[in-house]
Amino acid sequence: MAVERTLSIIKPDATRRNLTGKINAVFEGNGLRIVAQKRIQLTKATAGAFYEVHKERPFYNDLVSFMISGPVVVQVLEGEGAVLKNREVMGATDPKKAEAHTIRAQFAESIEANSVHGSDSLENAKNEISFFFAGTEILP
Ligand code: TYD
Repeated sequence: MAVERTLSIIKPDATRRNLTGKINAVFEGNGLRIVAQKRIQLTKATAGAFYEVHKERPFYNDLVSFMISGPVVVQVLEGEGAVLKNREVMGATDPKKAEAHTIRAQFAESIEANSVHGSDSLENAKNEISFFFAGTEILP
């Protein structure tokens, strides 16, 4: 399987509860390497642009408000089949539907405050990584 990179965001519900290390231990324990990382405060404009694809969805405004409610940790994960691996490790969007061993089953509070974001395709991963990181900030 090819080595890929994917964008991960540890969301405000998780940074608020001091879960960054526990979540990253799950990634690292599953063969995903953190090759770029920064803790930032998203603005309404940045969060709105990042989730532009969901603009017409009923949850969009609440999602943007939630994503700016505290700091996030944006990071690039690298590994074999990293895009799908990260999605598996994260679990289903709704933590009630996520498998028991996943990050969302263990840590998420709700479908909105679901602790992590992960790119859903290789193409989106490339776009999302360049949304947050310059090439020089990624250090394998
Ligand atoms: P989506 O891309 O469908 O899920 P995922 O994060 O698993 O790729 O949705 C993006 C985010 O939007 C999701 O993580 C949380 C939020 N969201 C809601 O708040 N309510 C909803 O009903 C859905 C589907 C998503």
